[in-house]
Amino acid sequence: MINAAIIGMGVWGQNLVNSAQGLSKSIRFVAGATRTPAKAADFAARQGIRIMDSYEAVLADPGVDAVVLATPHSMHTDQIVAAAQAGKHVFCEKPLGLDGASTRRAAEAAARHGIVLGVGYNWRFQPALQEIRRMIDDGRLGRVLHIEGNFCGPSAYRFPQGHWRHAGDESPAGGMTGRGVHVIDAMMYLAGPIDEVTAQSFRLAQDFGSDDTTSMLLHFAGGSTGYLGTIIATAETWRMQVFGSSGWARVGGVQHLNTWELTTCTIDRDNIMNKREPVVTRFDDVSTERAELEHFADCIVRGEPLVTPEGDAVRNAQVLEAIILSSSTHSTVRLP
Ligand SMILES: NC(=O)c1ccc[n+]([C@@H]2O[C@H](COP(=O)([O-])OP(=O)(O)OC[C@H]3O[C@@H](n4cnc5c(N)ncnc54)[C@H](OP(=O)(O)O)[C@@H]3O)[C@@H](O)[C@H]2O)c1
Repeated sequence: MINAAIIGMGVWGQNLVNSAQGLSKSIRFVAGATRTPAKAADFAARQGIRIMDSYEAVLADPGVDAVVLATPHSMHTDQIVAAAQAGKHVFCEKPLGLDGASTRRAAEAAARHGIVLGVGYNWRFQPALQEIRRMIDDGRLGRVLHIEGNFCGPSAYRFPQGHWRHAGDESPAGGMTGRGVHVIDAMMYLAGPIDEVTAQSFRLAQDFGSDDTTSMLLHFAGGSTGYLGTIIATAETWRMQVFGSSGWARVGGVQHLNTWELTTCTIDRDNIMNKREPVVTRFDDVSTERAELEHFADCIVRGEPLVTPEGDAVRNAQVLEAIILSSSTHSTVRLP
């Protein structure tokens, strides 16, 4: 059983605790720290979490094996480095960092100090996405040619003026940090690293806060192409469709973490004019948050690294940086 501390007890920090507390055999939350303890006092009492005075106090506590960071984006990489130096394992919410260099530094600190660093890309634990991965691995989809994705919703209206989510240094490129990075991670899980982006990002619906209308063309090192849109001043929806040389697979819906349906359609090679009916597969409901936390705990027990300096989570931050640069310079950006 890994004893964890939750850092940042806002909306998502509480959601992560609720997903695992009393339900998991591999991780439990024993402590926590947050900017305004009074706001989290009732929640902490209900969940049996000891609120501590500061992040530093948590890092010095021998009863804490790991910290789970659910704090504003710009704080993540420094908090990871501090935890690594204190010998604590870290699970950090997405995005791991806001630029390639600081994110890589955080991953290097984790490797240097021998701690496990996990990241909150919970879509990888969706059964439907895992099935698409299997369809690619066993050849049912053929070669991945193209991926379309979008992840949209009314985030721009959810937060009042002055909220950290609206700050340019916390949410650059509109919905990318809140939503788009999930789709980028899912795309790289299915098609490998992205090596080129051409992005545009505008503020069309309201005159304060972050951009609300962001879209981009993507190129993958393996040759596939893709595009992604994230509109954060519209109704909730997400969708991803993978086009392979033998057929396509599509997943998505309105409730982004509770869609357990996969639709697939393959080519009839014996009769290419035969338009096969799509096949719908339904999966059991699972908590992707509990699954990602338990996977993190299992990796600690096995001594297996999760995020590495060369891995997808650092690449994701490099792609985010390229998207920000591309949208501000109106040019195509190639990644090394
Ligand atoms: N995986 C997912 O699907 C998903 C979904 C939602 C969010 N997230 C991620 O979870 C993280 C937290 O997001 P959230 O929605 O939980 O945010 P939130 O509700 O605003 O909570 C942020 C927490 O951090 C604390 N905090 C510490 N220093 C702060 C500062 N300088 N400014 C503002 N808050 C500060 C806040 O304290 P106060 O109580 O004083 O405000 C609060 O407890 C982000 O990385 C976000 O992207 C992930």
